[in-house]
Amino acid sequence: MNILILGSGGREHALAWAVKQNPKCDRLIVAPGNAGIAGVAECAALNIMSPDAVVDFAQSQSIDFVIIGPEDPLAAGVADALRSAGILCFGPSAAAARLEASKSFTKEICDAANAPTAGYAHFTDLEAAKAYVKEQGAPIVIKADGLAAGKGVVVAMELQEALDALDDMLGGAFGAAGAEVVIEEFMEGEEASYFILSDGKTVLPIGTAQDHKRAYDGDKGPNTGGMGAYSPAPVLSDDIAAKAIKEIVQPTIDEMAKRGTPYQGVLYAGFMIKDGQPRLVEYNCRFGDPECQVLMIRLGAQALDLMLACAEERLADVSVNWADDHAITIVMASNGYPAAYEKGSVIRGLEALPEDSANMVFHAGTKAEGATITAVGGRVLSVTARGASLSEARDRAYAMVSDIDWPEGFNRSDIGWRAL
Ligand code: AMP
Ligand code: GLY
Repeated sequence: MNILILGSGGREHALAWAVKQNPKCDRLIVAPGNAGIAGVAECAALNIMSPDAVVDFAQSQSIDFVIIGPEDPLAAGVADALRSAGILCFGPSAAAARLEASKSFTKEICDAANAPTAGYAHFTDLEAAKAYVKEQGAPIVIKADGLAAGKGVVVAMELQEALDALDDMLGGAFGAAGAEVVIEEFMEGEEASYFILSDGKTVLPIGTAQDHKRAYDGDKGPNTGGMGAYSPAPVLSDDIAAKAIKEIVQPTIDEMAKRGTPYQGVLYAGFMIKDGQPRLVEYNCRFGDPECQVLMIRLGAQALDLMLACAEERLADVSVNWADDHAITIVMASNGYPAAYEKGSVIRGLEALPEDSANMVFHAGTKAEGATITAVGGRVLSVTARGASLSEARDRAYAMVSDIDWPEGFNRSDIGWRAL
């Protein structure tokens, strides 16, 4: 079959790498792709935010199956347009993608589904929001309702920080995404992510992961999109994972179906776990980046079969072939990230690295100029390895990192420390 993947990050490189290994895949196009993806697929320029442009392109290339990587095209209705045109697609409708695109919508669904989550209130009025925060006190969590590129959450340990966040968000710092804010009870515990496929009715968990959001070692420094991840996440034990499905995920999927907006695609659920009890932190309607990289290196070619079964509403008939393995990914980012950074530095040493089922360097922000690979993004490489244990996987990944010659980049040296 002919397959189109939308996106250009490390997540999409990992998806392309896994899909390409499956004999069902004849032709693979990634739009827009990047320098690393060009090694496993054709890359094509395409405005992936335009539902019409994506449908036209898919029809002109005789695409049988489209996998949508990032959240923005989902919120823009690209999956809806593809399905209306009769093209099989992996990714939720815009209505179902509200589970990520609106935090207050997610809270409403949790209430209806009786799913454990942080207590909350939501506001559009600055003075009312401030009065509520003063009454609740710190620590407290302030969230812009809409998509804010991962920057719309402030976990305020002090009251003043919370009030400043309200000034920012309701003052327009995030545009329409911040016109409404959700104010949440601060939850203590350990966080982990769970990735679950849903065909609208049946759910199929495909792995747990934990990421490292802070830029520097010891979980210090500014928040980023993620500086590394590992899978499985030991804190999501079988018991707790089963509880999360029963109390949170399945009731969410049932509620979405009941409302006539069934959720089809991958649901990325973030939980806070304390005393054996998971509570929902947030949903995302896509794979995490870099969590996808560790999931794909563990699942390999079967990832395509699972995504197809999800899109064809046959999840009840399939299962995951689990290996008793561990995976880790180390993100290499441009010096300065997540603030301003220089573009165009040369990355050397990549061609000598192993590329096999246990070692893969996924590209995020790279560009090829002839045989030279340059850095053009904040997060640039996702150095990923698999092993029989987490420490074996970590040693493999860091061995690759040390063979990459890129003085203009940095990485954390402690990915996986919590689990090791
Ligand atoms: P989100 O974008 O909703 O995942 O929030 C980003 C991060 O903020 C999460 O990964 C948590 O670390 C933290 N966070 C969000 N909501 C809460 C909460 N209610 N209590 C404590 N931490 C939270
Ligand atoms: N790594 C966090 C995310 O993809 O949202």
